[in-house]
Amino acid sequence: MTVTQAPASRPRKLQGYEFYREILGSPKYVVAPMVDQSELAWRRLSRRYGAQLVYTPMINAKMFAEATRSPYREQNFNTANGEEGGPEDRPLIIQFCANSPDQLLTSAKALEPHCDAIDLNLGCPQDIAKKGRYGSFLQDEWELIYKLINTLHENLSIPVTAKFRVFPTVEKTVEYAKMLERAGAQIITCHGRLREQRGHRSGLADWAKIRAVKEAVSIPVFANGNILYHSDIERCLAETGADAVMSAEGQLYNAALFAPALLSAPSELLAPTTNSSSSNHSSSSQSPSPPSPSDTFDTGLHPRHADLALEYLSIVQVQKTPTNSSAIKGHLFKLMRPALAREPDLRDKLGRTRGPSLEPFFEVAEEMKRRMDRDAEAAAEKSVAELITYDKATGLKVLPHWLAQPYFRPLPEQREVVAEDDASQATSVQTADPDAEEDSLACKRLLSNRTPEPEDEPKRAKLSSSSTAIPVCA
Ligand SMILES: Cc1cc2nc3c(=O)[nH]c(=O)nc-3n(C[C@H](O)[C@H](O)[C@H](O)COP(=O)(O)O)c2cc1C
Repeated sequence: MTVTQAPASRPRKLQGYEFYREILGSPKYVVAPMVDQSELAWRRLSRRYGAQLVYTPMINAKMFAEATRSPYREQNFNTANGEEGGPEDRPLIIQFCANSPDQLLTSAKALEPHCDAIDLNLGCPQDIAKKGRYGSFLQDEWELIYKLINTLHENLSIPVTAKFRVFPTVEKTVEYAKMLERAGAQIITCHGRLREQRGHRSGLADWAKIRAVKEAVSIPVFANGNILYHSDIERCLAETGADAVMSAEGQLYNAALFAPALLSAPSELLAPTTNSSSSNHSSSSQSPSPPSPSDTFDTGLHPRHADLALEYLSIVQVQKTPTNSSAIKGHLFKLMRPALAREPDLRDKLGRTRGPSLEPFFEVAEEMKRRMDRDAEAAAEKSVAELITYDKATGLKVLPHWLAQPYFRPLPEQREVVAEDDASQATSVQTADPDAEEDSLACKRLLSNRTPEPEDEPKRAKLSSSSTAIPVCA
């Protein structure tokens, strides 16, 4: 396809802050694009718990453009049922990775009626992105990036946005962000990590660079990186000046990360939850109950993870659009992570579950719910001080194991110290990593379908206002 100029009669599309306010509704809480994890069912759950804007997983523009006769299009964005990109799935930004303006435009045009903007992934640091020449590996090809963005800016009826990683210096990062703005990006998301900060070398995101970007451009800026708890959000907004916070991993471990946190009387911490999904798997059509004081901490809202898992499964069950079983499994492993090490039979059963039947996933989540409710009841007499521990390696708060909460990994050397120190505490940092295996399986599956990998491995360092030490994870 040849890139064409927009017809002169096209109505003016809203740009920058006009677009951010009038079309997106001034979102502050944004769920990140996540391969195999920000799929429709997760987006629905996220919106119930306060997410105000959600990105799709990254779609490969080349494969999408060429897939007129293969299932790739339907597998990556299913418009057949009117659910993906439908009224309940908005506001929505669809993300592509690309290195050809023509392929990007062809793919974006096909999906432009189903979303509010198209995002360009400039952050993927994986080897597959290096091989495919996309994501952060375009970071040095400014002319090409300009053309990719400008082609969408000139030819789409909806805005184009971009998500990128920072450079080693503030100056180059700012220069780059200004180039993205000049090219026509109407919102930019700044992930405060370098291209090299991935996997074991993730480290912390640099909020100072995000602040410098925000001060240098006139379009809205989303800050990405280092959000563990709800209580980190305001601090991030204050330190960066950003218009919104985007979360990936923190939100996967606690789908209620963005929900308003009601500060509660600590003594109510252990009261049984009231918004549990019923065992007949039929609760998906209900809106969630308002946050119960029993779920809330100074770190935010932390529902029981088995309840979140059941609510997610009910959404998957009721919607017409199919959900990959790899995505379901990935979500369940992450949500229920605080208890999986102490419930190895459930962990193994989940690991063996393949789909397409949802029944085994429900069985695991329902049994987990029974055990977690039992544990919460048994601890009803304990004080909050007895229940909240501190991670030995990072100093971060560890909440009772029945509650959804962030997961952080120590550096390898910290891990050894912790393991030697006390192997018996099931709520402290685990040396085993039940969901890492699942993530890598999901990546392999994606690769075998020739689908690109996520921008980032899902394990990285975090900084939390709720911590007493800087958490450093692999
Ligand atoms: C499971 C997973 C999948 C991801 N997939 C994508 C993706 O498709 N596109 C993208 O731009 N970033 C992707 N990322 C990176 C995140 O969007 C985000 O930039 C990164 O995780 C840092 O944010 P966090 O500190 O809140 O996790 C992915 C991250 C995770 C954990």
